[in-house]
Amino acid sequence: MYFGVDYYPEQWVFPFGGTAENPEAQWRRDAELMAAAGFNVVRIGEFSWGLCETEDGKFNFDWLKRVMDVLGEKNIQVILGTPTAAPPIWLAKEHPEILPVDEHGLVKHEGTRRAVCLNSEIYWNHSKRVVEEMARALGNHPQLVAWQIDNSLGGNFTEAAFNDDTRRDWHLWLEAKYETIEKLNQRLGLRHWGQIVSEWNQVPMPMAAPTHHNPALVLDWNRFCSDTIVQFVKMQADVLRELTPDRPVTTNLRALRHKFDHFDLAEQLDFVSIESTAAIKTKPAEIACEIDMLRSLKKTGIRTPDGDSGFWVMEQKAGNVNWQDVNALVRPGVLRMFTYQLISRGADAILFFRWRQPRFGTEKFHGAVLPHNLESGSRRVFDEIARIGEELKVLTPVLKDTKVSADVCILYSHDNEWALSQANQPSKLFSLREHIQLIYNSLHDRNILVDFARPSEDLSKYKIVFAPSLHLVSGSDADRLKLFVQNGGTLISTFNTGLVDENDIAPTTGFPHDLTDLFGLEVQDFDVLPANEDNLLTFKGAFQTSHMHPARIWCDLINPKGCQVLATFGKDFYAGKPAITMNPFGLGKAIYIGTQSHQHFYHDLVAWLRQMTGLHPLLKVPENIEVAMRQKDGARVYFLLNHQPTPVRIQFYKPMHDFLTGQNIVANYDLPPHGVLVIDEHPDVKSAG
Ligand code: GAL
Repeated sequence: MYFGVDYYPEQWVFPFGGTAENPEAQWRRDAELMAAAGFNVVRIGEFSWGLCETEDGKFNFDWLKRVMDVLGEKNIQVILGTPTAAPPIWLAKEHPEILPVDEHGLVKHEGTRRAVCLNSEIYWNHSKRVVEEMARALGNHPQLVAWQIDNSLGGNFTEAAFNDDTRRDWHLWLEAKYETIEKLNQRLGLRHWGQIVSEWNQVPMPMAAPTHHNPALVLDWNRFCSDTIVQFVKMQADVLRELTPDRPVTTNLRALRHKFDHFDLAEQLDFVSIESTAAIKTKPAEIACEIDMLRSLKKTGIRTPDGDSGFWVMEQKAGNVNWQDVNALVRPGVLRMFTYQLISRGADAILFFRWRQPRFGTEKFHGAVLPHNLESGSRRVFDEIARIGEELKVLTPVLKDTKVSADVCILYSHDNEWALSQANQPSKLFSLREHIQLIYNSLHDRNILVDFARPSEDLSKYKIVFAPSLHLVSGSDADRLKLFVQNGGTLISTFNTGLVDENDIAPTTGFPHDLTDLFGLEVQDFDVLPANEDNLLTFKGAFQTSHMHPARIWCDLINPKGCQVLATFGKDFYAGKPAITMNPFGLGKAIYIGTQSHQHFYHDLVAWLRQMTGLHPLLKVPENIEVAMRQKDGARVYFLLNHQPTPVRIQFYKPMHDFLTGQNIVANYDLPPHGVLVIDEHPDVKSAG
C-alpha cells in the first residue's frame, strides 16, 4: 500500500532551507524524516511551471530530477503533477488573452494559480508543450510511479470562462450536437421570449443578463464547460500515455463539488484520486458519503501503480485547513480515525497534504505533517502519522486485492443536478444533496455499504437502487431503471422525478416522464411547502413506524394506476391521497415516495427494505460505531470506527481477530475515543463454520 505526502521541495531551498554552500540540503533531511514516518511515495511538481519554464521555451527540469534522486535514496516513489494548474506570469504577460473573463465580461488577472481560460488555444498549446517536455525529461525516472494531471480542476470557481476562444468552442460544440440551427432553436426552446437565433455565432454564452437565461441553454453550457475540462485532461493523458505508457495517470478530485461531470472525467483516468476534507467536517456519514461517491466514479478498467483496484487519496489534510473562518486544530486521534475511514471505504493509498508548513505564501498557516519550526515545534501530527505508517505495514498484505462490494446503490447524475440548480424551480428549499444525504445516513448508520452510479450504468449487481429526485430522466435512463426492476431489483424513487427529459423539456404524457408504467401511477400535480409547514404521513400498515413522520418541502399529488398505496398524506386538500406507493414490475418492485421526511422516516424505510429484500448489516454494533468492510474471495476485513470522544463498549457474538494487535477479541471490547479496530472472524470460528 502506498503511504506518503505532498511535497514542495522548491519552497525548501536556501535561504528558506539548506545552506548557502548547499542550498538543497534540506531535501535530504526531509527524505530521512519522510522515511521515518513510513512514507514510500511523495507527490511533487503540481505548481512548478514557472520554475521549470522560466521563459517561453526555456525548460529546466534538473532540480526536479535532483529531488527525485534524493527521494530515491530512501526508496520513496514519486507522483509527478503536471504543472498546468499554475501558468507562469510571463505567459499571461505575453498573451493576456489567456486570462479568464468572468460573466460580467471582466478579466481576472494573473498572479495566482488557475488564471486561465481552458478554451484558450495559446494556453492549451503551451500546456501540451510543458507536459511533453516534463514527460521527456522525467518520465523515465525510476522513482516515477504515476502522473497527476493538473490539480483540483475547476477549483477556485474556474470551471467556466467567457473568453472569445470559449465562444468559438461553444458554437462548435453546439453545431456538433444539433447540426442545424432549426434543431437548436427547437431543442433549446428558444421560442421562449422570442430568443431564436439564425446563425451559430448568435447563440449567447450565459453571461450576466437582466434575468435568467433559458435553462436548457444553461444546461448545455454546463455540459460544454464539463467537456472542455474533460478534453483538457484527455489531451494531457494522451501525451503522457504516448511518452510514458507504463506510468498510470490520475488527477485529484473533490467530492462531486466542481461543475464538471466527474464520471466523464474518471473515464479518462487510469485511477481516481481524491481530496479528503475529513478534518473539517464533523459528521461521519457526510464524509463517508463523499468517499463512496468518489470511489464509485470508476468501477472498471482501473490501473494503479501497484495493481490494486481501489482509489487513491492524493490529499488527506494532515491537520487544519486555512480557508475556513476558523481553522481549528484537528484533535489527537482524529486524523488516524479518518485515515482508516478512507481505507475502510476502498482507499489503496494515502498521501497527506502537506509535508511542512511553508514560511511564505497563502498556505503559511495550513496544517501540515511538520510545523515551520522543525527543531522544537510540535511533532504531534508527525507522530500520529508515523503510527499509521507502522500499522499499514501490518495491514498491507491483509488488504491486498480486497475491495468494497455494495448491494445498494444511489443514483446520481451531474446532468440532473445541473438541471435542478437552474433558477425558477418549484422550491428553493429543496436540495438534492441534502435529500441524498438523508437516505445515505440511514444506510450508513445501519452499516450497509453503498455505491453511487449514474442512471446509465449497468445496475444488475445491486439488490436495491435508490433514485432520489431524478428530475431529469432521459429515455434510455428510464429503460435502464425498468430493466433493473424487471429483473428482480427493488427501486426506490422519490418526488421531483421525471419532470423533464434530457433537453430540459417537460413531458405531455404525465410525470414521472417515461416511468408512469414502472411505478403504476401518475403524478398529476405537486405542492411545495414553506419551511415549518409540514404535512404528515399516514401509513397503511406495510412498514413499522417508530415515530410520526412529517411530509416536507414537496408533496406529489398521485393518481394511482395499479400501484399499492403504502402511505397517504394526512391533511390539506389532498389528505388521503397516496404519498408512498409500491408497484410490482416484472420480477421486482418499484417504490415511489412522493415527499421528503425527517431522518427517522429513512431509518424506518431502510429497516423495512432490509426485511423485504433480505439485506443484512455488516455487523451488529452500537449505533454510533461506523462499520465498513473490504473483501476478497470470501475473506472479510471489518473496520470499526469510534467517532465519539468517549469509549464505546462493543459486544461481539463471535470471537474476532484484531489485525493491529494480533490479539483475539472475545465478548466485550471497549473501543477507545476515536479508536479504530480492524478485524476479521477468528480463524477457528471460520474453519468451524
Ligand atoms: C486543495 C489544493 C491544494 C491546496 C489545498 C488547501 O484543493 O489541491 O493545492 O490548496 O486545497 O486545502
